[in-house]
Amino acid sequence: MGELFRRKTIASILREADRPHDDAERPALRRTLGVRDLIAFGIAAIVGAGIFSTIGKASADGGPAVIYLFLFTAVACAFTAFAYAEFASIVPVSGSAYTYSYVAFGELIAWIIGWSLIMEYAIGNTMVAISWSDYLTSLLSSGGIELPPWMTMDYLSARNGFQDAAILMESGKSFNQLDYSIKAAYHAWEGAPSIGGFHVVADLPALLIIWIITWLVYRGIRESRNASNTMVVVKLAIILLVIAVGVFYIDTDNWDPFMPNGLSGVLRGVSAVFFAYIGFDAISTTAEECKNPQRDLPRGMMWAIVLCTLLYIAIALVLTGMVHYDLLAVGDPLAFVFEQLDLKWLSGIIAASAVVAMASVLLVFQMGQPRIWMSMSRDGLLPKAFSRIHPRFKTPSFATIVTGFVVATPVLFMNMYVVADLCSIGTLFAFTLVCAGVLRIQSDPDAPKGKFKTPYINARYVLPLLAVALLAWAFTSNRENTLAFLKNSPQAYAPHTIITSLNNTELAQLKNNVAAADSLAFAASGNDLERYLTSLPSKEYEKRLAGFDIPAAKKYESGWKLFRHKIPAWVFFLVSLGALYYSVRKNLSLIPVLGMLCCLYMMSEMGVSNWLGFGIWLLVGLVIYFSYGIRKSRLRAQATQP
Ligand code: ALA
Repeated sequence: MGELFRRKTIASILREADRPHDDAERPALRRTLGVRDLIAFGIAAIVGAGIFSTIGKASADGGPAVIYLFLFTAVACAFTAFAYAEFASIVPVSGSAYTYSYVAFGELIAWIIGWSLIMEYAIGNTMVAISWSDYLTSLLSSGGIELPPWMTMDYLSARNGFQDAAILMESGKSFNQLDYSIKAAYHAWEGAPSIGGFHVVADLPALLIIWIITWLVYRGIRESRNASNTMVVVKLAIILLVIAVGVFYIDTDNWDPFMPNGLSGVLRGVSAVFFAYIGFDAISTTAEECKNPQRDLPRGMMWAIVLCTLLYIAIALVLTGMVHYDLLAVGDPLAFVFEQLDLKWLSGIIAASAVVAMASVLLVFQMGQPRIWMSMSRDGLLPKAFSRIHPRFKTPSFATIVTGFVVATPVLFMNMYVVADLCSIGTLFAFTLVCAGVLRIQSDPDAPKGKFKTPYINARYVLPLLAVALLAWAFTSNRENTLAFLKNSPQAYAPHTIITSLNNTELAQLKNNVAAADSLAFAASGNDLERYLTSLPSKEYEKRLAGFDIPAAKKYESGWKLFRHKIPAWVFFLVSLGALYYSVRKNLSLIPVLGMLCCLYMMSEMGVSNWLGFGIWLLVGLVIYFSYGIRKSRLRAQATQP
């Protein structure tokens, strides 16, 4: 059992960093990076599909109030950045979270983190590629070239969107009233070539860019790191352009209501917003190349987070000010808003720059993934092929090709929101463990200390106060929801879910009932059932629903089916209790404790289906570890050598 948690010593890691192969000496990397380079590298990795794409859906769900989520996420990331910085100063090598956890927790957790990072790097890149394809399509369209929708969408989105469209039209919506994304899915499914009844729908531009980037990385374009500064300038220029021009088109009426779907609407954007911040941790991988990592790494990460937060908040305000928030659920919102205002030329410029700018994120992550696998392979946890270096190109050739496949496969059948969710949950999991790792290292008197230390504030006093404040809020202002949560009271489904779950007879029945009960308001919504139900305040909605004659199981979720959605929240609650207990007993440091809890909280907001998906992913990882890694581990072999 003990061997699962056998830890690497820092001395051995530092020795390996200087001499990574047993048989091939390698000079240490050159220490050339200063704070400014680190900030630029951070922005190169951070600013991508999040701000160009997922912000659209998050704003459509949360309205302008999504800016609060950007702020909260920035604070959580800043707490985590301290943990990364502290580790990077203790273990100044480039393996990032994987190496840190080998030191803090030992091999098993290191493997789990390495396995989770596949979600961050490879699956994250799938998302960026899908978003890149949306912008390319938009760019071509503004140049008069229309790609058929079936070659710019994934299979499942097209099929589900087509089915939803049919049901929603049945419920009284006209085709033009459907969401933009549903209309696109309808066209994709309808227009797809069919082979033996199988609709051929695939996001071909996304596949193409993945293969181009994989090829570049395979050929070893190391200079790309240095080129990231140029990419950063392009990205910042378009974002500033969108803000500078968009500001003149803001109609403040669009900001009212500011939080149209309440806090729950805002929280629906957690994974999308968090996705936009992923990448600041990639800065820590340059630890061996920094002139003064202890001083510059924390500064670089913090500045990158602060600058991105300012830009993100400004963009969110501009987008939601320019058009009504519920139009924003598109893959290319920055270009889309200008197209809506008939500024096609500007929309074209934005799409063109986004296509270039997002390629840099693809490159950073596509290079990162094989290098993490390479470290794992050197430790014996993956087959040797993963650390094979191409004799001519000097790149981890096999690992790079596998990365290409792993990134490309989900493009065929997963939509970008599912992919973003998985990427965010995997990354949050790794962040949670890195914060926990710092706590562990700090409370181990024998553990070596680095030069950078997270400012110490005793969690013993602050955490209980925070807990009391939150409980007071939960049982006063939010009492009804808290009690419903604790009692697991039945809860009405969202209008869209109800409508799409009904059969034709039930749907007709519901429409008649609504028309009879609320004829004026229903007519005012253009006889659009979904729009009408969505417009009701939540208590009204529950009341009306109770009076309508449709099966209760289709109206309300209850019992285990409801409770399973609450499992993530209960996990968060129980871990928080544990953190509280240990903070008081062991005087833990507040910042990593809050970093850990904020990340876990964001995970808990991400829906049980994501937990399930990620849980299965971890299980597969564990099976691989116990059937391969544990036997081949180098650390184990060294420990058992006579
Ligand atoms: N933060 C990176 C992006 O938004 C992953 O593309």
